[in-house]
Amino acid sequence: MARILITSAIPYINGIKHLGNLVGSQLPADLYARYMRQRGHEVLFLCATDEHGTPAELAAAKAGEPVAEFCAKMHAVQSEIAAGFRLSFDKFGRSSSPQNRKLTQHFAGKLDEAGLIGEVSEKQVYSITDGRFLPDRYIEGTCPNCGYDKARGDQCENCTKQLDPIDLIEPRSAISGSTDLEVRETRHLYLKQSQMRGALTEWIESKTDWPILTTSIAKKWLNDGEGLQDRGITRDLDWGVPVRKGDQPWPGMEGKVFYVWFDAPIEYIACAAEWAEETGQDDAAWERWWRTDRGADDVRYVQFMGKDNVPFHTLSFPTTIMGANRIEGEAWKLVDYIKAFNYLNYDGGQFSTSQGRGIFMDQALSILPADYWRWWLLSHAPETSDSEFTWENFQVSANKDLADVLGNFVSRITKFCRSKFGESVPDGGTFGPEEQALTEALTARIRAYEAHMEAMEVRKSAAELRAIWSLGNEYLQSSAPWTAFKTDPDRAAAITRLSLNLVRIYAVLSRPFLPDAAAEMLTAMHTEDDSWPDDVPAALAALPAGHVFTVPEVAFRKITDDERDEWQAQFAGTRD
Ligand code: 2FM
Ligand code: ZN
Repeated sequence: MARILITSAIPYINGIKHLGNLVGSQLPADLYARYMRQRGHEVLFLCATDEHGTPAELAAAKAGEPVAEFCAKMHAVQSEIAAGFRLSFDKFGRSSSPQNRKLTQHFAGKLDEAGLIGEVSEKQVYSITDGRFLPDRYIEGTCPNCGYDKARGDQCENCTKQLDPIDLIEPRSAISGSTDLEVRETRHLYLKQSQMRGALTEWIESKTDWPILTTSIAKKWLNDGEGLQDRGITRDLDWGVPVRKGDQPWPGMEGKVFYVWFDAPIEYIACAAEWAEETGQDDAAWERWWRTDRGADDVRYVQFMGKDNVPFHTLSFPTTIMGANRIEGEAWKLVDYIKAFNYLNYDGGQFSTSQGRGIFMDQALSILPADYWRWWLLSHAPETSDSEFTWENFQVSANKDLADVLGNFVSRITKFCRSKFGESVPDGGTFGPEEQALTEALTARIRAYEAHMEAMEVRKSAAELRAIWSLGNEYLQSSAPWTAFKTDPDRAAAITRLSLNLVRIYAVLSRPFLPDAAAEMLTAMHTEDDSWPDDVPAALAALPAGHVFTVPEVAFRKITDDERDEWQAQFAGTRD
């Protein structure tokens, strides 16, 4: 049994996330967490809301609420939606937690001790119209790298380049749109990322098993010279973690807070501390996941994120961890594997939170249960390239895979059994070459499914699972128990017995993708035996003759053409 720490990129608090956000981190992380738990590993799966910085301030201002209240409210909303999608976090924390405040200040102090913090007087954009310094995200303009005209001061969404606001061409205030900006002096702390170039390069070079998407982005920024510039880690803002050196004041930094991208990844650690507190455990409970001197040396730590987050997780956050670890007594866990995703597009364009374009998580749940979305999103995860959501594709995929293949198999065999043998697993009959072939095919496919799931190959796992469901339908089709029943009822009983056992196996195998349907299937089969089919012949006999079951409700109904058209029209515009 291994110990696996899993984190999903923590979503900004500023609004409800869209399906593109969901498939880019939280959902595949959940798939992996569920799978690993089912295989008997000890898993700690963490996520949180990213509450500091300008996105939060901007959204609270728009909602007309004090930022702390806004964040508390939105955290509750996001938690409920996460539960609706069955995201099985052990803790859904908050980056504004006291734990994160303490840890962020701790790391800053250690980085300073390690000589990795510099203090500079820098020029920052001040908006005369707005009467304040404009933090990076409050400034928009044209990207000097790719020419995108809505680039933000911290990063260009189009080419993923990390930016400094003063790099932007034709900058304007995102608050007022004013171009009446001037540059003023202010003092800030810098993280000397450039000093870590050697250590980071060596580390990334050693990750030969990481997805190309992750390492190619990391290497691009490492080799690009500019990618590893020293980064300002403080801001002239009220909302955030106050700048302190551990528990001591930081002279000259009064009234300033840490930059949101400095404290956000530290929340991965703080979230474990929040989890320990919530579950009534002491510090040792979370430190054994995060401190290599307190048990975490045998933890495998896997991070999930969209590609725009990769530079922060391969350069900035590792600088924090490796840098702090240079100080005696510090022994923080570094990530072992980063699974990154491309973008999901929506019906010929991009999903966009700021423009309200696409389907948002709450809207999705209001029209169909979570399993439909989980299945489509995971089976179309943007792994090797961007992928696109269209209503046609969603309808076809749900109707074919879920209703025609899985749903049909379950419903057909349970109904057939009820009508011919009653609602219990029938006795009698023998197995022959067809069952032998099925068992072999099933074994091969289940082993392939396990390998894909271990490797976090999401689409391949979905394809394999679908193929496993199809084996059942093909078997029923060729063995035709309804025909056999007329001449050889014992033979029909054997086929039925094996097929009912397949229903249990399907529930177990499908659970990481379809937790609700899996639970319904196990309930219908009146079994709590959710053991993994390590030994397929044994698993095919888990429900013995005489075992009672109930024909389940149809788990998956079909999406009609009318519904598809209606939803397509409903989601064609934008929402505020
Ligand atoms: O891109 C985002 O949504 C960020 N809030 C992700 C932060 S991940 C980590 F650093 F905590
Ligand atoms: Zn750009």
